Amino acid sequence: MATRPTAHGGPIRRMTRIRYYRIVVTVSTKSSSTDHAVAAPAPAADSAGRPPDGIRIEGVARSFVKDGRRRYAIRDLDLDIESGSFVVVLGRSGCGKSTLLNMIAGLSRPDHGRISYRGEEIAGPRTDLGYLTQHDTLMPWRTLRRNIELPLELRGVPAAQRRRRATELIARVRLDDFEEHYPRELSGGMRRRAGLARMLCAEPEALLMDEPFGALDAQLRQELQADLLRLWHGSGKTVVFVTHDLDEALCLGDRVVVLGRGGRLVLDEPVRLPRPRDLDRVRLEPAFVASHQRLTAALRSDAS
Ligand SMILES: Nc1ncnc2c1ncn2[C@@H]1O[C@H](COP(=O)(O)OP(=O)(O)O)[C@@H](O)[C@H]1O
Ligand SMILES: [Mg+2]
Repeated sequence: MATRPTAHGGPIRRMTRIRYYRIVVTVSTKSSSTDHAVAAPAPAADSAGRPPDGIRIEGVARSFVKDGRRRYAIRDLDLDIESGSFVVVLGRSGCGKSTLLNMIAGLSRPDHGRISYRGEEIAGPRTDLGYLTQHDTLMPWRTLRRNIELPLELRGVPAAQRRRRATELIARVRLDDFEEHYPRELSGGMRRRAGLARMLCAEPEALLMDEPFGALDAQLRQELQADLLRLWHGSGKTVVFVTHDLDEALCLGDRVVVLGRGGRLVLDEPVRLPRPRDLDRVRLEPAFVASHQRLTAALRSDAS
């Protein structure tokens, strides 16, 4: 998978990056209330003196006021996401999963607490954190290839280089014959793969994915899960993957974090299944069955 991007300096490049942030904010969040243009530099030190690594969520709360009443979507959340791990956030609809991901992506800020990446507080969107939102954000007037190239175009990468990178990613998500198709000419599964390729084109170190396969049929969903694992395996990238589907959580994750009502942490379950995973067989493993029972109980206990 891709290596880290080269740094682009200079005032012109910085301006294009700011434009990129604004576009990401506009197209990709339903609940953001803050429009951050740039990530402010933050101290690299960790408050507890531990070496900075991965994504760290410390005492985070986020509320919304509706009809004069404040409701907490996330409350007192502490979570350490190790660099290079595949962590799934599992929970029922409305338990605060998207709210959490929006904060990690830097699109909205916690009311209290701190979210940091590699020891730096996340103060706005960053190019090293890729975000695939719950809803399709491909631009309908751009072809598949030009959608995928977009993050590089906004960074001022020359056309030939962009094209090479997009072609390589299109092959990796198995959309070779569709380069010049528009989003409306692609199926739901193809559009999700295109979204994945566009996120990867920006060469992020960590991938934030919000129910990316939620609206697809079971067979297609399993194909895309296998594609994602193939792309991720050996890449060293950190993944935070949100889902409400217990099977999907166990098939993909190294660890499943269950959120309950009000964004409380209900269970933190390590997944001891071998990799690479054969998604047809993994469900038969005793470790899968045991974790499945614990996760089912955690989801049930929160419902009562
Ligand atoms: N922008 C917003 N304004 C008001 N309430 C919101 C907003 N975004 C989310 N919420 C509320 O926060 C709670 C969690 O929402 P969300 O994070 O979207 O849940 P999930 O992604 O787990 O389905 C819900 O009760 C939802 O109505
Ligand atoms: Mg959601």
